[in-house]
Amino acid sequence: MSHLTTSIIREEHAALSAMLRSILLLLAQHRRQGSLPDFAVLRAMLFYVDEFPEKRHHRKESELLFPKLRARTPLSRELLDRLDEDHGRGERKIRDIEHALLAFEMMGESRRASFEEAIGRYVGFYLTHMELEEREILPLAERVLTESDWAELDDAFRANRDPLVGHPPEAEYRALFTRIVNLVPAPFGLGVAR
Ligand SMILES: [Fe+2]
Ligand SMILES: [Fe+2]
Repeated sequence: MSHLTTSIIREEHAALSAMLRSILLLLAQHRRQGSLPDFAVLRAMLFYVDEFPEKRHHRKESELLFPKLRARTPLSRELLDRLDEDHGRGERKIRDIEHALLAFEMMGESRRASFEEAIGRYVGFYLTHMELEEREILPLAERVLTESDWAELDDAFRANRDPLVGHPPEAEYRALFTRIVNLVPAPFGLGVAR
């Protein structure tokens, strides 16, 4: 049986993957054409990838879901540690990417390849991280968590979506995502519904 918690996590992964893959598609297209990308659009896409997981998604995993799992099973401890570490390292990684983007924008062609390499590595890191969570962690949670664990988690995830708890309201992130979808040219497939 699937729970609100796992469907929110999968939904957020889908939005993040769409954004990450679109960045690579956009860059590949501009490389083929020998043109420079629209840096404002790239900045907006990176802002989403930076802001949303940092403020919302990773916290829900590291502070709500993972501790419950550790309390219920000794399985996948090393993987949970690794995923927590990824959450912690993400911020530094995205700063480096943002710097590489600025260098590309300021210095032009000579910095294209290094930005492409950096973002390629980052997207790979991120997609692997989310895939591990979906393949290993969410099924493990479905196996070992109790109904009262799920009730607590689902309540917390529901509350986390509520602007009254003081986090940026979910609606703001949805609006940001939609704004970016409208900025990205149609062929790059950012049409995932949120
Ligand atoms: Fe994660
Ligand atoms: Fe995740």
